[in-house]
Amino acid sequence: MPRNSVAKPASRQTATTTKTAGKSSGAAATSRRTNGAAQKSDETMLNELFLDELKDIYWAEKHLTKALPKMRKAATSQELAAAFENHLAETEGQIKRIESVFELLGMAAKAKKCDAMEGLVKEAQSLMEELPKGSMVRDAGMIIAAQKVEHYEIAAYGSLVQLAKTMGKNNIANLLLATLNEEKNADQLLTQLAESGINVGAESEENE
Ligand SMILES: [Fe+2]
Repeated sequence: MPRNSVAKPASRQTATTTKTAGKSSGAAATSRRTNGAAQKSDETMLNELFLDELKDIYWAEKHLTKALPKMRKAATSQELAAAFENHLAETEGQIKRIESVFELLGMAAKAKKCDAMEGLVKEAQSLMEELPKGSMVRDAGMIIAAQKVEHYEIAAYGSLVQLAKTMGKNNIANLLLATLNEEKNADQLLTQLAESGINVGAESEENE
């Protein structure tokens, strides 16, 4: 993909330093940011926020690829196991998509630890350990945990899409929108699985 396809037109930015119209958009943006707080424009700070959020979700997605195989193994119903398997493949594609976004920005992909995803995965892990193996109630618990993950991701990608649109990076917005739609579908599928039998199955299980 072309490296500078998302570079902003120079006309919008009038930082007082004379920056030669660099071809490396990432480096140019960084050097503009070093001009001191007084000269930071909203747009530049928004770009910084966008990058921070992008690094966060990059870490989150990578972390999730370690958790999903465990969730798949722990699932009692085949449908839920298949849903986790599918979402693992989808997540791997989403990681590649984020790497494409970094590439479009002319930057190396970089992750920043996402405390929220770490916590959500820990909660999923606890549920798997606490609820009985082979039970539907464990499936019901994992669906809840997985939906919390999906909702975090929906919020993250929804925000990234809007920030990218605001900054006129429409090709990046479209890439992230594809992921946002996958996350929404994954969330809906989990709801369907819960409602189509797993929750009812869990309800009929006796307390040990
Ligand atoms: Fe994802």
